[in-house]
Amino acid sequence: MIRSPLMTVMTDAVIKAARSLKRDFGEVENLQVSRKGPGNFVSAADHRAEKIIREALEKARPGYGFVLEEGGVVEGTDATHRWHVDPLDGTTNFLHGIPHFCISVGLEREGQIVAGVIYDPVKDEMFIAERGKGAYVNNRRLRVAARRDMADSVIYCGLPHFARPAHPRFLLELSSVMAVSGGVRRMGAAALDLAYVAAGRSDAYWERDLQTWDIAAGIILVREAGGFVTDCEGGDDPMASRSICCGNEAVHRELLAILRQANRPVTTAAAARPA
Ligand code: IPD
Ligand code: CA
Ligand code: CA
Repeated sequence: MIRSPLMTVMTDAVIKAARSLKRDFGEVENLQVSRKGPGNFVSAADHRAEKIIREALEKARPGYGFVLEEGGVVEGTDATHRWHVDPLDGTTNFLHGIPHFCISVGLEREGQIVAGVIYDPVKDEMFIAERGKGAYVNNRRLRVAARRDMADSVIYCGLPHFARPAHPRFLLELSSVMAVSGGVRRMGAAALDLAYVAAGRSDAYWERDLQTWDIAAGIILVREAGGFVTDCEGGDDPMASRSICCGNEAVHRELLAILRQANRPVTTAAAARPA
């Protein structure tokens, strides 16, 4: 597989940042046992990684804008391009020494995501996709899983924070999905959840209350791996609605139907009877 100049720019940037992140992860493992804990250190690691990525991308593609988790929105002189960057996705895992986190970079061109890179430095897995060119992990072509039956499927999800309005709704959805699927997982890094759907390691995934830097790269990975991506209501712009539901065609369709059903207001015969 020959990497395009754009892919080389993106992968070089994340590899550079990953070196710093991996060094810091080693330190976090030591800090687990200290009384102060690794909290501030992790936040510094996050900022360090973002700075490295931003500088590398700015140098290679001057003028492109940014949507950075830490640095916010940076308008570029080129209004048609912007990067969506999560320098550390899976912060809670990282903080607790759980080796499941990644860097995610997506490129938006005229409102469409055209390229994505997700790198897991611990497992040394580089997930890449460009529109019309397929999705790959370390040069191996990716396809979503072929499973059609929800009962055999492993479904990933994300938990909305307890204080968020999406939380009670999520609990209803979770029990509905658990009732019919082969199993549910909450892995803790949204970008890797999407990459794993693309790789066929998960059959489908849903989550609400996300940000564009969590999902930009993953959306194109899943689509280029032959998967279907919508928001949790079936709408086709998850970047705008910040919720995501994806998988292969059959399991994605079934998951959407389950989410819809779980959210239907309960109307019992008693409730419907006039007082
Ligand atoms: C979080 C992770 C997590 C998801 C959260 C995200 P962060 O990103 O992707 O899996 O459930 O909604 O905010 O904070 O680790 O970059
Ligand atoms: Ca992050
Ligand atoms: Ca994130």
